[in-house]
Amino acid sequence: MKSKEIRSTFLEFFKGKEHLVLPSFSLIPQNDPTLLMVGAGMAPLKPYFTGEKTPPKPRVATCQKCVRTPDIERVGRTSRHATFFEMLGNFSFGDYFKEEAILWAWELVTTGYKLPEDKLYVSVYLDDDEAYDIWHKKVGIAPERIFRLGKEDNFWEIGQGPCGPCSEIYYDLGADRGCGRPNCEVGCDCDRFLEVWNLVFTQFNCTESGEYVPLTQKNIDTGAGLERLAVVLQGVNNLFEIDTVRPLLDHFSKVTKTEYGKDQEKDTSLRIITEHLRGISFMVGDGILPGNEGRGYVLRRLLRRAVRHGKILGVGEPFLHNAVNLVVDEYGEFYPELAKGREYIQKVVRLEEERFHETLEQGMKILDELMHKAGPRGVLPGDAAFKLYDTYGFPIDLTKEILAENKLILDEEGYQEALEAQRERARSARGASVFGKDDTDYESLRQLTTEFTGYDSLEAEGEVLAILKDGQPASAVSEGDEAEVVLSVTPFYGERGGQAGDTGIIITDGGTMEVTDTVMTPFEQVIHRGSIKQGTVSVGDAAKGKVFAPGRSSICRNHTATHLIHTALQEVLGEHVKQAGSLVTPDRLRFDFTNLSAATPEQLAEVEQKVNEKIWANEPVSVTLASLDEAKDMGATALFDEKYGDAVRIVRVGDYSMELCGGTHVQSAGEIGLLKIVSEAGIGAGMRRIEALTGAAAYRWFAQRNQLLEQCAAQLKSSPEQLPERISGLQAEFKDLQREYQRLQLKLAGMEVDGLLSEVSQKSGVPVLSARVSAGNMETLREMADRLKNKLGSGIIILGAAAEGKVLLVGAVTNDLVKAGYHAGKLVGEVAKLTGGGGGGRPDMAQAGGKDPDKLESALEKVDSLVENQKK
Ligand code: ALA
Repeated sequence: MKSKEIRSTFLEFFKGKEHLVLPSFSLIPQNDPTLLMVGAGMAPLKPYFTGEKTPPKPRVATCQKCVRTPDIERVGRTSRHATFFEMLGNFSFGDYFKEEAILWAWELVTTGYKLPEDKLYVSVYLDDDEAYDIWHKKVGIAPERIFRLGKEDNFWEIGQGPCGPCSEIYYDLGADRGCGRPNCEVGCDCDRFLEVWNLVFTQFNCTESGEYVPLTQKNIDTGAGLERLAVVLQGVNNLFEIDTVRPLLDHFSKVTKTEYGKDQEKDTSLRIITEHLRGISFMVGDGILPGNEGRGYVLRRLLRRAVRHGKILGVGEPFLHNAVNLVVDEYGEFYPELAKGREYIQKVVRLEEERFHETLEQGMKILDELMHKAGPRGVLPGDAAFKLYDTYGFPIDLTKEILAENKLILDEEGYQEALEAQRERARSARGASVFGKDDTDYESLRQLTTEFTGYDSLEAEGEVLAILKDGQPASAVSEGDEAEVVLSVTPFYGERGGQAGDTGIIITDGGTMEVTDTVMTPFEQVIHRGSIKQGTVSVGDAAKGKVFAPGRSSICRNHTATHLIHTALQEVLGEHVKQAGSLVTPDRLRFDFTNLSAATPEQLAEVEQKVNEKIWANEPVSVTLASLDEAKDMGATALFDEKYGDAVRIVRVGDYSMELCGGTHVQSAGEIGLLKIVSEAGIGAGMRRIEALTGAAAYRWFAQRNQLLEQCAAQLKSSPEQLPERISGLQAEFKDLQREYQRLQLKLAGMEVDGLLSEVSQKSGVPVLSARVSAGNMETLREMADRLKNKLGSGIIILGAAAEGKVLLVGAVTNDLVKAGYHAGKLVGEVAKLTGGGGGGRPDMAQAGGKDPDKLESALEKVDSLVENQKK
C-alpha cells in the first residue's frame, strides 16, 4: 500500500466515524512557548483537550507533519531515527473514550490495513485495568499478547499541557530483526517490535510546576506513524526504503555517485542527507528561516549537517536545493504550502548551502589542525571550539560531531566558560540596567491584574498596585529614585508586538513619576519604568497616568504605516512576502520581511507611492474584535509567534489592509501625513529590512535633503534644477583639463630628457643614467625612459620620481645590453627595495614602487654599483 493510500485510508476511516478531517497545522506552534516545533498530531490541538477552547467538532482526525529533534545525532547512524515524520491521528475532545478508541484502532489495523493478528501485540499502562479488559474481553486479545509497561513507555506527554496514560499497538517484524536475547519481547529496546500506533487517554493537564491535574473532560489522542505503517505494509526494512523516501535516497546516491549498501559510513551519510532534506523542505515551507536560535537553529543544523555529509561523499557544490523538487512532487498535493513555496524553498536552501560551503571550508581547515594538535583520543580546548563558533560561524554541534567521528572529545566546560564570558562582555557592553534582568524578577507580580485602557484614551485613574526598586518589591519610592511601578488601570501601552512602550507621567497623591519606558511582564502586567521627580509614590496611592501624546501619535503613525507597507510589499514583490518582525518607535519604523533578493529602487518607489496614495486618500482605520478563527476566515494576516487571546483585534485600513494586531493606530490614514522609505537592506538569508519615516520625521528628511541640495547648488553657483547639467559641464571641463595636463607633462618630460643626456656616465664601457625626475605618474616616467632609450641607442636607464608621497621607479635596458646580461627588472627591484618597496619585470623595461621618497636620492646613487654587480 502506497503512503498516499495509507494516509487516505486512515482519514476516510475516521471520517466514517464522524470525525472532522482537518489539514495539517503548521510546524510552528501557535501560542505554545513550551514547544519549539509541532512534534505530534495533538500539539496544535492542546486548547481543545483542556477545554480552554471549543473545537469545531468534538471528533477530529488529521495527518500532521511533525519534527522531533532530540535524536538528531542518531539520524542516519541507525535506519529508524528521523527528525521529520507524518503522524496520523484521531482525537476526541470530551467525546468518546477508551473503548471506541481501542475498538476502532483494532478495526482499522486488521481490516483496513489487513495486518495479520498473529503479528500484533499491545501494551497498556501498569495499572490500567480498564484498557486491559477492553483489549482482552472486548477485542479478544490473549493475555500473553498484552504487556503492562511503566511511565517510560506508556504515559504520554509533550511540553506542557494535556497528557495521560496510553496503550500501544506493536507489529512483530520477526525474530531475525531482533536482538536475539531470550527475554526479548514487547518493550525491548531492539528493532523487532515496532510500535505502530499509540492511543493516549488524555486525562491530565501537566502544569508549569509539573503537577498533573485531572481534566474535567476525558479525551482521546492517538498517533500512528505513517512511515512506520508504510514499512510494515510495504514489507521493506526501514524508513529509507518506503515509497516516499526511497526516490530521494536514490537521487542522492546518484548525485554523490555513491552506491547504497556497500559501505556503512557512506550509507550513514546518504541517510542523513535524505532524512534531513525532507524536514528542511517542510520547515522552510512553513516560513522558518535558518538562524542562530530556536527553530531557525534547528533548521540550520539539519541543513549544515546534510551539506557536510554531502562533502564527505565528495560533493563540492550546493546540491540539496536541486532535490527540493522531489520532496515537493511527493508531498505537494497533500501539503499545498509546499507546492506553493517550491521556488522559495529552493532558493532559501541554496542560499544557506552556499553560505555554509564557505564556512565549512575555513572551519574544517582550522578544526583539522586543532584535532591534529590534540592528538588521537585528545581533548579539544573549549576556547578553541568557541572561537570556531564565534569567529567562523562553525556550529558547536557540528564540532562535537566531527570530534566524535574522530574519537576526540570537547572540553565542554571550557566551551561553556568561553561562551558565558562572551555573554558577560555583551551584557556589560549593553550597560547595566537597574531594571529587571530576566523574567524571574517579575515573579512577585504574577498574581496582579492590570487593565489597559489606552486604546481610547491617553489618561486613566487607578491605584498603585506594586513598586519595584532595583528589581525588588518596595512599598514606596521617593524623589530621585528609579523605579518600576504597576497600576491597576493604565493608559500606557507596554512594549510588545514590535511597538515601543509609551512615555509620560504618573501623578499620585504624594508624588510624580516620569515614565521613560513601559513594558509588559511575561504574565502581562504593565510595568512603568522611570524616576520619581517629586514627593513619594507609595503602594495603595490613587494614581493618574498620562501618556505623552506627541510620542504616542508618532507611534500610531508608524504602526499604521507598517501595515500599509506590508500590503504594498505583497502587491509589488509578490504574495510570498511575509512579515518577519517589526519595530515601531516614535522616531521611525522598521519592517522585516522574507524576500530572497533586494528590492530594486523602482520597486521601493512603487511601494512608497502606493502607501502614500492610501495616506492621501485618508483611508479610515477601524478596529473590530473577533475570535481568532473568525478573523482567519475573514482573511486577516495572522503572524507567526504572535500571541493572541481569545478575542483578537482586527485592524483594517480602508479595504487595503487587514491584520490581527494588538497595537495602537491612527484613526485615519491621513494622519500619517507622509511616508518615506529611507533604506532597504539584507539582514540574513532571505530576510530583508526596510526602514522608513512618517509624518514630521519624513518631512524633516525631505527638508534636510533639500537643504543639502541647495547648498551644493550654491557652491556650484547654480540652482537645484540646473545641477545635473552643471555637473555634466564641470565633468567635461575637467576631462579636457586632464587631457591638456597630460599633454603638457609629456612635453615637459621631453625637455627634461634632453637635459638628462648630459648626465650619462660610463661604467665599464656601459652608458648608465640614473636620475630623479619630476614626472607626476608612471605613464610619464615610462615615456621618459623610452625616449632616453631611443636617444642613447645603447645604455641603462633608471628614473625615479616622488608622487603623492610615494616613490615611482622605471628601469630600461637597451637590447644589446640585455643580451650582455643586464636586467632592468632586477635593477629596478633592487632600487625599489632601498626605498622600502618592491617590483620588477622584464629585462628591457620594468617598473617598481617604493614608500619613502626621502630615500630616493641615496637609492639612485647605488645604481652604478648595482650595474657593476650585474656585469658578472
Ligand atoms: N500524541 C501521541 C504520540 O505522539 C499519540 O505518540
